[in-house]
Amino acid sequence: MPSGAPIPPLVSGASPRRGPGGRVTRERGDGGDPVGSSLVSTRAAQVHRHGGDVVCAVRGLTKTYPAVRGRRGVPATPEVRATDDVALDIARGEIFGLLGPNGAGKSTLVRQMTGLMRPDSGSVEILGHDIVRHPERASRILAYLGQESSALDELTVSLAAETTGRLRGLDARQARAERDDVLDELGLAALASRPLRKLSGGQRRLACFAAALVGERPLLVLDEPTTGMDPVARRAVWSAVDRRRAEHGTTVLLVTHNVIEAETVLDRVAVLDRGRVIACDTPNGLKEQVAGEVRVELVWREAAPLHVPEVAALRDRAVESGRRWTLRLAPEEARTVVATVTGGAAFAALDDFTLATPSLEDVYLALGGAVRQGLVKA
Ligand SMILES: Nc1ncnc2c1ncn2[C@@H]1O[C@H](COP(=O)(O)OP(=O)(O)O)[C@@H](O)[C@H]1O
Ligand SMILES: [Mg+2]
Repeated sequence: MPSGAPIPPLVSGASPRRGPGGRVTRERGDGGDPVGSSLVSTRAAQVHRHGGDVVCAVRGLTKTYPAVRGRRGVPATPEVRATDDVALDIARGEIFGLLGPNGAGKSTLVRQMTGLMRPDSGSVEILGHDIVRHPERASRILAYLGQESSALDELTVSLAAETTGRLRGLDARQARAERDDVLDELGLAALASRPLRKLSGGQRRLACFAAALVGERPLLVLDEPTTGMDPVARRAVWSAVDRRRAEHGTTVLLVTHNVIEAETVLDRVAVLDRGRVIACDTPNGLKEQVAGEVRVELVWREAAPLHVPEVAALRDRAVESGRRWTLRLAPEEARTVVATVTGGAAFAALDDFTLATPSLEDVYLALGGAVRQGLVKA
């Protein structure tokens, strides 16, 4: 795809894509996909299964931030190994996710992959280019939306998109055409003449995302693109991503700490914890690891009634977060627990409870992820 090619007009129904709530089964491509509309995902999964067409290969990527000595008013920070021997392969046309809590090393990892930060060791190869040795090539082959982007704040939405296109080598006419298409696509046309700094956080984020799409690149790297967005904007981002993959085979690396986003839009996900990849599979493949379990959440009115022996006995297995206890249990155990807390002495202390099938958050916890900084579920 030449970088200046305009985005083709969108014909409703022309691109097979999943709805926002779509689940992609592990067996997709084998005719076992109940969603039926994940043809594109099927292709990405097949490509990956056959091991061909790797767009991005990372090996042994390691980065340690040095300790900083404290000064007056500024506390000392210890040395942090932000990425620790990370290896990844991303196939063409995949929507690949990095999932992990705050501080897991996601942004550090993508900054190294996009040539913005030099790793201490390891390699990054994107579309045949060695990005560690030639970081300047990254901007020609990928579009990057940083986690914190204020660079465009003084521009209007329209100019931010157009300027990005020009910087990426489009001529004025092409840049304006792509700008108009992308602002329409994302529902931003009404805000086109507003400066980014006067928009809400979510609108500004959407405008930055729009700019990142102009002057199309074969690899999109998005660091928490949907932070602060309302559900409508979030879905607009997800379908824009899916559409580019469907129509141009764009590969997407999407950083998220949002479990719903991960389960909804990603083909595969690498779970990052303290700088290390602790698991990498399809969302459903990961969930199968905890398939035999049920998640029970108990919310106590004030404190847990530890005078009830059955409740006291559960404490060791619960992840406590304020008044909330989260337990991962076999289905029969879960039934017993619910019977215990909804009858007898414990009930008076109970505010709410839920039973749920496992989510990626349970996978994360089961893999030994840092419990206290859990993932986001909204
Ligand atoms: N510029 C920096 N200097 C020192 N430490 C940093 C810097 N940036 C990030 N860190 C630390 O590195 C770890 C990973 O951070 P980051 O990559 O931002 O994680 P994430 O994006 O997953 O939230 C954290 O412990 C963070 O405090
Ligand atoms: Mg980050």
